[in-house]
Amino acid sequence: MYVLGLESSCDDCSAAVVEETPSGPVLLSMAKQSQDHLHGPYGGVVPELAAREHLLQVRNVIQEALAKADMPLRRLDRIAVTQGPGLVGSLLTLFSASKAIAWREGIPWVPVHHLLGHLGAARFAVPDLPFPALALLVSGGHTHLYRAADWTHLELIQKTRDDAAGEAFDKTARMLNLGYPGGPVVDTLARRAERAAAPFSAPKFRDGKASWSFSGLKTAVKLRIAGEPGLDAAGPEDPRVQALCRSLNETVAAWLLKPIPAVAGETGARSLIISGGVACNSELRSQARILADRLHLRLAVPEPRFCTDNGAMIASAGVLLPPAADPWSMNADSNLALVG
Ligand code: KG4
Ligand code: ZN
Repeated sequence: MYVLGLESSCDDCSAAVVEETPSGPVLLSMAKQSQDHLHGPYGGVVPELAAREHLLQVRNVIQEALAKADMPLRRLDRIAVTQGPGLVGSLLTLFSASKAIAWREGIPWVPVHHLLGHLGAARFAVPDLPFPALALLVSGGHTHLYRAADWTHLELIQKTRDDAAGEAFDKTARMLNLGYPGGPVVDTLARRAERAAAPFSAPKFRDGKASWSFSGLKTAVKLRIAGEPGLDAAGPEDPRVQALCRSLNETVAAWLLKPIPAVAGETGARSLIISGGVACNSELRSQARILADRLHLRLAVPEPRFCTDNGAMIASAGVLLPPAADPWSMNADSNLALVG
């Protein structure tokens, strides 16, 4: 089965052609246009600019993906597209375009929840993953831990109370004037550091409920920077900047993985999936490997290009979901709920 996967929920416009084979999904081509140059000066995604840029990019990414795979539209068995959650103007671009293409060519059309896409990305890494699995989905918008009964059924275990983990990286990079998005640059500098700065202490919750919080971490980073005159402008070569980045990397990885041992026991999990942009993080990836080995969990962490938003993950999830009976009655939904 050949699937065209499309993703435009935030600031990445991406299309991919994936072949579903008996041994799992195989990527035939992927096109992705970034908008980092556009949003960089603002230190974060500007929704109106993102929506307008998607309109300019949509045609190119679809054509590029089809051409690279040498795949005429008529040979496609499915078109899968992100329905939500995300920025509504961004979502609408590929959602509407894909419906029109599917209708004109008579191709079955599948709307996909963005988080099922991040989960589906892990099928490229371990297609025969044993379930149930724990799924840690971490990005610029999500920090959620689920119990996955299979690749399309998720039950929430815990999530962040405020910011997503990716925001801690993006805001830190912004405070240190390192550019946008922050995760990749903070991670690179962390790996160059000879030592880590003092660790950040984890928040304590009065209600005792299991969750995460990353907004306090942003404040803690801000106070650290304010306490060292000139640090905000010191730049990427400064050892103090690198030490701070390493400390952030270690803190976020430790916090994210902390609940896994207990929850794995409670849920009878056999695997651990980590996906979403923050799953590119080198410290998180190496700590996850150590932890999974210790707990005898099969680990599925996609290659970095499948962790950040991309069309291939939507195609991978889209083959497992039913095509819509009436695409014209459906709309993009910025708050789309996950039906377990
Ligand atoms: O999944 P994604 O591409 O978009 C959303 O759905 O949000 O994730 C983007 C997030 C950004 O916050 C970015 O800084 C973060 O993923 N990120 C990283 C790394 N690469 C990207 N965070 C930490 N370490 C990285 N290497
Ligand atoms: Zn995402």
